[in-house]
Amino acid sequence: MAILVLGGAGYIGSHTVYELIDAGKEVVIADNLETGHIEAVHPKAKFYQGDIRDRAFVDSVFDNEQIDGVIHFAANSLVGESMTNPLKYYDNNLCGTKVLLESMVAHGIDKIVFSSTAATYGEPERVPILETDRTEPTNCYGETKLSMEKMFKWTGLAHGLRFVSLRYFNACGAHVSGKIGEAHNPESHLIPLILQVPNGKREFISIFGDDYDTKDGTCIRDYIHVTDLAQAHILAMDYLMKGGESNIFNLGNGVGFTVKEVIDTAREVTGHPIPAKTTPRRAGDPAQLIASSEKARSVLGWHPEHADLREIIETAWNWHKNHPNGFAD
Ligand code: UFG
Repeated sequence: MAILVLGGAGYIGSHTVYELIDAGKEVVIADNLETGHIEAVHPKAKFYQGDIRDRAFVDSVFDNEQIDGVIHFAANSLVGESMTNPLKYYDNNLCGTKVLLESMVAHGIDKIVFSSTAATYGEPERVPILETDRTEPTNCYGETKLSMEKMFKWTGLAHGLRFVSLRYFNACGAHVSGKIGEAHNPESHLIPLILQVPNGKREFISIFGDDYDTKDGTCIRDYIHVTDLAQAHILAMDYLMKGGESNIFNLGNGVGFTVKEVIDTAREVTGHPIPAKTTPRRAGDPAQLIASSEKARSVLGWHPEHADLREIIETAWNWHKNHPNGFAD
């Protein structure tokens, strides 16, 4: 029996496939390669190129392979783009998941682990954020992820499917081997943008606002290593395999760093001065997002192993300095 990883050629998907294969699991990947990279596909995984909105394609994967459970990363994830082109997000994220669930129900596949986000909460009521806190997304990306969670819930009640939704905070870092890492185009995330400076691809890093109500005025985020996220998916699938009920978990380190602290750590790691310029706030950025991941620790037995920000940035730098143009290098 194999695990089907949808979006297994993307950033978090490819790191999860590496961990699954290291754990001795059989892996099938489906990815449309719209944002994923063929070079990120693990050589021991079986690969299908196709789109989850294509029912015939999804059916054919389930017909050809013995799939025990699905890990679903196949979604668009750019907050800014979701605000200018919301229907793209409804189409890929929601319509795609609807087709996937129809096919899973038809094939009797009843376990799914889902890549969700802290963006489901919107502006938090308090930090650290608990899974039971208010969910009021402030962008269309977060709204579609929250709707996908609800689609799993109602489909589960009707058809006996069980799901685990993993709400990630700020995914970052790269595989310790240096073989795979973060390669978005366009890039919008803080750490890879900072590392473009020592790589000579950017003159300075912009700090989006330094007048927030935080210790140094810049936004605080909970940065979590991609391999720790990947491990949580394996634990979540094991939990479902053992009969665990549908559930939602936050994934973060429970510690926040300001934008300035992240830049300072990158300066130490790279030995480059990394000039920074303060620019106006970016619309929709909450001042602080920090996860309570107590539930993932106690229920799934999850223990992040790369929680140190310096180590996270070292793994990211190890990837970016050798791949300044991503997988094209
Ligand atoms: N930032 C800068 N300069 C930059 C880029 C980012 O100052 O050039 C700041 C942002 O304002 C923010 C922090 O760095 O305060 C982190 O920004 P990212 O874009 O890296 O990450 P976000 O916290 O905005 O987004 C993350 C995930 C999203 C998810 C969101 C939840 O990447 O998928 O958390 O709110 F939706």
